[in-house]
Amino acid sequence: MSHSDFTPNLATATPRVDEEQNHLNLNDGTRIPQFGLGVYKTPADETAEIVRYAAKAGYKMVDTAAFYGNEEGVGDALQDFPDLYTSTKLWASDLGYDAALRAFDISARKLRRDVVDLYLIHWPMPKTDLFVESWKAMIHLKNEGRIRSIGVCNFQPEHLTRLIEETGVKPVLNQIELHPAFQQKELRAFNESLDIRTEAWSPLGRGTGLDGEIITSIAHKHGKTPGQVTIRWHLDQGNVVIPKSAHQKRIDENFDVFDFTLDAEDMARIATLDRADGRTGPNPYTADFS
Ligand SMILES: NC(=O)c1ccc[n+]([C@@H]2O[C@H](COP(=O)([O-])OP(=O)(O)OC[C@H]3O[C@@H](n4cnc5c(N)ncnc54)[C@H](OP(=O)(O)O)[C@@H]3O)[C@@H](O)[C@H]2O)c1
Repeated sequence: MSHSDFTPNLATATPRVDEEQNHLNLNDGTRIPQFGLGVYKTPADETAEIVRYAAKAGYKMVDTAAFYGNEEGVGDALQDFPDLYTSTKLWASDLGYDAALRAFDISARKLRRDVVDLYLIHWPMPKTDLFVESWKAMIHLKNEGRIRSIGVCNFQPEHLTRLIEETGVKPVLNQIELHPAFQQKELRAFNESLDIRTEAWSPLGRGTGLDGEIITSIAHKHGKTPGQVTIRWHLDQGNVVIPKSAHQKRIDENFDVFDFTLDAEDMARIATLDRADGRTGPNPYTADFS
């Protein structure tokens, strides 16, 4: 994407005071906005303006990662919007106790945050068997007051169980691939049974599948777009949701979801879109980024 695709114009971002935007309680006593902006693949040199635009439009959260290479841009935007709830992630090659401490320092410096709201293990990488040691480092950082909440991404039940059995500390949330074509009902239920929130990554299925008959007809019925229906589907189920867009029009579109809800028939129709082979990203059991 070229820089010219995004024309920052803060004057046109409509500031919206949106009382309907939920915050969800987390199991450590803190709260998280239910809706935010993802910035995976957002170009580093455009990130600051894009995040500023979203914050001005009313977004209350941004989700980045060391791996995305754009934490500095998020940090620039945070200078102007210090209340924006921010999550970042420990990359696979930085797993391990000491490596995790070092990686966190670098992320916090790039974000220019003394305290990071939410720090997540990006992938369990079971083959390296370092996720429990990394978790202990994150518990240490939380106890030191440098991280407000700690969580994980892409963890399967056995990974969650081990973390909890070996440290006694639960992640506040598990960020997993989740969209209408890959609904993760069992893992969502497992998270819920442990009071761990589910956060959906690739909530729009990376934009694929939005033109299917079921989503488009529900969109038509509500006078909304397929993207908005999909985001509403997440919100109505209690998922934390972080759609990514690097374009003003879609940043606005994705936020304009707080004035309608889906009914039981809509939900039942979307439930039929779930597919066993609907995953678009790596399989957490076998993903190897070393
Ligand atoms: N923990 C993990 O392992 C993990 C993995 C992947 C992602 N994530 C996080 O989750 C966030 C969201 O996931 P994602 O970026 O993979 O995918 P996504 O949010 O499902 O989809 C983003 C794609 O859809 C397009 N799009 C955005 N809004 C749209 C709309 N209303 N209608 C049609 N197309 C639309 C975007 O294009 P434009 O940008 O051109 O608008 C982009 O190509 C990431 O940014 C990242 O923060 C985490």
